[in-house]
Amino acid sequence: MDTLVINGGQRLRGTVRISGSKNACLPIMAAAMLAEGPSTLHRVPALADIKAMAGLLGELGLRSDWQDDTLTLTVEDETPSHARYDLVRKMRASISVLGPLLAKRGRARVAMPGGCAIGARPIDLHLRGLEALGAQIELESGDIVATAGRLRGAEVYLGGPFGSSVLGTANIMSAATLAEGTTVIECAACEPELTDLADYLNAMGARVTGAGTPHVVIEGVEHLTGCEHTVIPDRIEAGTFMCAAAITNGEVHIDRVRLDHMMAVVDRLRAVGVIVEKADGGASVSSSRRLHAVETTTQPYPGFPTDLQAQLMALVCLADGNSVITEKVFPDRFMHVAELARMGAQIHKEGPTAIVTGCRRLVGAPVMASDLRASAALVLAGLAAGGQTIVNRVYHLDRGYERIEEKLVALGAEITRVST
Ligand code: EPU
Repeated sequence: MDTLVINGGQRLRGTVRISGSKNACLPIMAAAMLAEGPSTLHRVPALADIKAMAGLLGELGLRSDWQDDTLTLTVEDETPSHARYDLVRKMRASISVLGPLLAKRGRARVAMPGGCAIGARPIDLHLRGLEALGAQIELESGDIVATAGRLRGAEVYLGGPFGSSVLGTANIMSAATLAEGTTVIECAACEPELTDLADYLNAMGARVTGAGTPHVVIEGVEHLTGCEHTVIPDRIEAGTFMCAAAITNGEVHIDRVRLDHMMAVVDRLRAVGVIVEKADGGASVSSSRRLHAVETTTQPYPGFPTDLQAQLMALVCLADGNSVITEKVFPDRFMHVAELARMGAQIHKEGPTAIVTGCRRLVGAPVMASDLRASAALVLAGLAAGGQTIVNRVYHLDRGYERIEEKLVALGAEITRVST
């Protein structure tokens, strides 16, 4: 298992290039099985989760051919339909194969994903949506077993207690492309990753309108054909590097970022006192020494993303005054709190809210990564802390950040990866 050893205190300077979005790429890869003929995807990040999805698709009869960050997926065998628990357990986004399998092959057996370090992760909305399209669904030995003839267009409401579901919307949108008739999704998730999925589906010949809004209309077609598609930049990676620039009082140019996907993030960073400006196909980010406390509530897009809650928390550990961070998407997503406390952070958690009292300095310590974004927060804290921070269980980070330590080292950070 690898660890990262960080000697904190370096100001980050220079340019970092943002990779393609993991969360856009995963459902797009799954949707490749809807097509006749190969799909070529550009700017696919080299991440553990992407490799895991390629592995799962391999078991489902799709061949992966890589050339740098271009991935071509070709359907070679349409008989398999089983996503095994071993794979789903490791990567929850495996659930994205459910809709495409059902729509194209008429059957799917997908292990029910359990909870994970960020809390309970139900999939009732996915199942309810597919049932509305005509699927019969049963649970057998921990697997979802779904069957259908040709799916039928329907009205599908995807609102849940915590808003809509991103991958639920992806599953229904993908499945409905091959359904007979028109599907209307109300209360669809609006994340940019879903607009990217719709762009990919439309390039294959689908007829999806309204993606990126809560009202999505899909007119079913008979066939889809493989196409080329370039994945959008990863807004969560971009936000993490913005926090890295800010927490080290640095000056970083973020190349290949879509600021229009990051309005809430930029708004909160500016409230903290971070200077974010559009510059040269990207953004320049710098910060003054004094950071201000803020109030933030995570929400579905276009609100502040839950996937940047931990990183913002690391940043405001060093702000003046009390910040209030409320988690409204995954109310238990606070595993980083206790680890940040090991570095001197003062955080009081009350239900889904954390009150962070800014301190003057963080101190390096051995800490344990618990999930992807919590790990990123610990790295950020380590960059700012005095002394050495050792982040254990770095495999969480490798699931979602492409070459993170190389990118940080190129900006002047002192980080080494140690394999144990
Ligand atoms: N929910 C339900 N029922 C469902 C599905 C979800 O109640 O059927 C609830 C969840 O428990 C949660 C909320 O709805 O409270 C949102 O969950 P959602 O389904 O949108 O999450 P997801 O689609 O499984 C994606 C990202 C996550 C990101 C969330 C929220 C991918 C591969 N994953 O997950 O990303 O946190 O949306 O934006 O796209 C990450 O990258 O670190 C990550 C966890």
